[in-house]
Amino acid sequence: MPKAALSLIGAGPGDPEMITLKAIRILGTADVVLYDALVNPQLLEYAPKNAVLQFVGKRFGCHSLSQDEINELIISSARQYGHVVRLKGGDPFVFGRAVEEIEAASRAGIPVSVVPGISSALSVPAMQMIPLTSRGVAESFWVTTGTTRSGDISGDVHLAAQSTATVVILMAMSRIGGIMDIFKEAGKADMPVAVIQDGTTDKERIVTGTVSDIAAVTAAHGIENPAIIVIGEVVKWREQLAGIIANAESQYIYEER
Ligand SMILES: C[S@@+](CC[C@H](N)C(=O)[O-])C[C@H]1O[C@@H](n2cnc3c(N)ncnc32)[C@H](O)[C@@H]1O
Repeated sequence: MPKAALSLIGAGPGDPEMITLKAIRILGTADVVLYDALVNPQLLEYAPKNAVLQFVGKRFGCHSLSQDEINELIISSARQYGHVVRLKGGDPFVFGRAVEEIEAASRAGIPVSVVPGISSALSVPAMQMIPLTSRGVAESFWVTTGTTRSGDISGDVHLAAQSTATVVILMAMSRIGGIMDIFKEAGKADMPVAVIQDGTTDKERIVTGTVSDIAAVTAAHGIENPAIIVIGEVVKWREQLAGIIANAESQYIYEER
């Protein structure tokens, strides 16, 4: 009988080099890899040649497996083959449905381990030289989803708009207009905003603007999911740091993607 086990592994934001050494090592021991849409397929090369590789994400609007179906697949795969790696975009515990999978596997008596990943929430702004905190500018940051399960704007967006923190919003493109209205009502019409699509990959695109105009700017440029919205004065650092680096002939090497 194969030894059933489940490892939930964070695959990072998209750049295949942004994954931990531990993740690579454990991926190399997989019997089955169940991977999501935001996982860079190049990472599958680190799985053993004979491992079963199965895509379980949503692609081009086609039917995707429900969470219950994924949970069942984890259990049946672990019983049939042994070690199942659930390879998830970013970090498994940041909007990653990891809890449901851990609960299901544990109820089935399957041992579980987690390997954290580099979340897009932090790394995508960072790769665009947008620091989420900055002395005298932002003392903290919020990471929130834009939309809830029902498609409504999350109540946390209303709370975040009241704070002085940098606000990072995932899964928000379908409601960007409504979200910006909330920030306008909070007196932040002129607050800088960046929207980054496919961050850290060769398809990366960024637009910047303010709370007042960013919805129109993203529409004009056709910016769509997967994308991250960053709202806060720290967005200004992007251009300022680029200027400082250029003037200082700094050692920082910006990799053109
Ligand atoms: C279901 S959440 C998963 C987040 C993931 N667990 C993480 O830690 O990055 C998916 C959302 O993350 C954001 N996202 C993930 N990867 C991204 C990337 N490379 N560029 C921009 N946004 C990304 C988008 O908002 C996307 O809709």
